[in-house]
Amino acid sequence: MKTIGLLAACALMAAGAAAAQDRNLGRNLAAQCANCHGTNGQSQGGIPGLAGQGRAYLIAQMNAFKTGQRSGPASTIMHQLAKGYTDEQIALMADFFAAQKPGK
Ligand code: HEC
Repeated sequence: MKTIGLLAACALMAAGAAAAQDRNLGRNLAAQCANCHGTNGQSQGGIPGLAGQGRAYLIAQMNAFKTGQRSGPASTIMHQLAKGYTDEQIALMADFFAAQKPGK
């Protein structure tokens, strides 16, 4: 019984560590978007902000850029960029941006 309790505790700790690692990974990936979309996705104007946007919306836009479904004169850069990320990486970034306070 004692062993099972210990094993359960270990599993819980491992899960907690994995979640924290995902958050850091999401933040690190998202840092690559800051040049254009602002620190933490809080845009200073011009380019749309990502902070505080819905997770599902962000994922849908990234996929739409990937496939070329979303296009426009300003979209070329996002077409290139979006293709460089896996679904998992996109989901981690979406988690991160959705949790940020919206900018201006
Ligand atoms: C070189 C500049 C640049 C970088 C770097 C960049 N973006 Fe963009 N992004 C843009 C521009 C410009 C648009 C507007 C495109 C349009 O309206 O079609 C845009 C639009 C978007 C949108 C749609 C926003 C909305 O409100 O509909 C999302 C989502 C997005 N980018 C995500 C990202 C992510 C995630 C990263 C980092 C991996 C990133 N972008 C990096 C320039 C950039």
